[in-house]
Amino acid sequence: MSILNRKRIVLAVTAGIAAYKAAFLVRLLVKKGAEVRVILSPEALDFVTPLTLSTLSKNQVEYEFSNSDGSWNNHVELGLWADLMIIAPATANTLSKMADGASDNLVLAVYLSAKCPVFVAPAMDLDMYRHPSTSQNIERLKTFGNLIIPAESGELASGLSGEGRMAEPENIVSFVEDKIQSKAPLNGKKVLVSAGPTYELIDPVRFVGNFSSGKMGIEIAKAAADMGAEVSLVCGPSAISTEGFAIRRTDVISALEMKNAMESQYTEADIVIMSAAVADYRPANIAEQKIKKKEDEMVIQLVKNPDILKGLGEKKKNQLLIGFALETNDEIENAKAKLKNKNLDMIVLNSMQDKEAGFRKDTNKVSFITKDQQLISHEAKNKSEVAKDILNFIVEKLML
Ligand code: C5P
Repeated sequence: MSILNRKRIVLAVTAGIAAYKAAFLVRLLVKKGAEVRVILSPEALDFVTPLTLSTLSKNQVEYEFSNSDGSWNNHVELGLWADLMIIAPATANTLSKMADGASDNLVLAVYLSAKCPVFVAPAMDLDMYRHPSTSQNIERLKTFGNLIIPAESGELASGLSGEGRMAEPENIVSFVEDKIQSKAPLNGKKVLVSAGPTYELIDPVRFVGNFSSGKMGIEIAKAAADMGAEVSLVCGPSAISTEGFAIRRTDVISALEMKNAMESQYTEADIVIMSAAVADYRPANIAEQKIKKKEDEMVIQLVKNPDILKGLGEKKKNQLLIGFALETNDEIENAKAKLKNKNLDMIVLNSMQDKEAGFRKDTNKVSFITKDQQLISHEAKNKSEVAKDILNFIVEKLML
């Protein structure tokens, strides 16, 4: 799965003959799972039609500051929406305007508003490419932090042959992928996450379980994949899909199965986040056949499940180990005690006292407690946002 999966990309096309290759580029980016919005310089309309690009990108194509109905195209919104911007082809004229900070068309205004990485694929005739002013503009653009995708050599539209051809769409995509992956905050890290409930069988059709949906842990796994990690998810019974994400998923049912799956992947992991709601007890015996109803009362004897996280804490070497705590009283004290007892680097406390937190909800309200006693409390947020907060905190504060 590509690091471009689910990334929001603005593709800006300017007026060079290579603009026709923008159609292939859009297709490749969409195939990688990216959401693509195309903008054109007004002159690029002579080379490629908005209809082609809107059909391939499945999004409206913009090329003017205002629409025919008089409404305004918000270039600032578009610049801030993007996770990355690609300008391909970038003509000598566009490079010069970018280097000077001009903004007399939508492409330049979006470029100036963009806070994300900007990739530039120059395309022009060889003498234009070689001209000192073009080289200087490219050098200036690099000093602004732009990433230049080198032009390639070959036959040019003028009939001449040499350097200046826009990099082929496949090469643009690999260039962008390599750069984004190498800059991703969790590049090269193996993240192991547990999620969901465990079901402890009573007989072939019944179990002891809990209301965990798996949503929190699955959001963590998805966010870690988006941040460039190699992600492994050990998941108790959950209806939530992880399809379309670069996540290796192991589905388990019981606490003992979860323990095996976590332990077998623990040694190689760099970051381990145990968010599963593991059942504390399991039936002492699992009946082979469905238990028939007979007496008015029945007793199921339970035995304690192993504490998976505590076991991982005991074996900890270089891993960062993060646990969760769900408390109803003396929350902070209890969470701190668990952090110490299980040898964790951080514990994420979610309070059952909060109506926006807990099982089967889309939101969660959490506090982070670190092993050096920092306490950071967050507002209630969507679980996907909470997942990003957790991972950003790990990257910025724990991965030093
Ligand atoms: O002790 P308590 O169950 O409150 O601790 C919660 C943390 O411990 C969570 O991270 C949970 O995933 C983990 N845990 C575990 N094995 C158990 C019980 C809890 O790994 N049997």
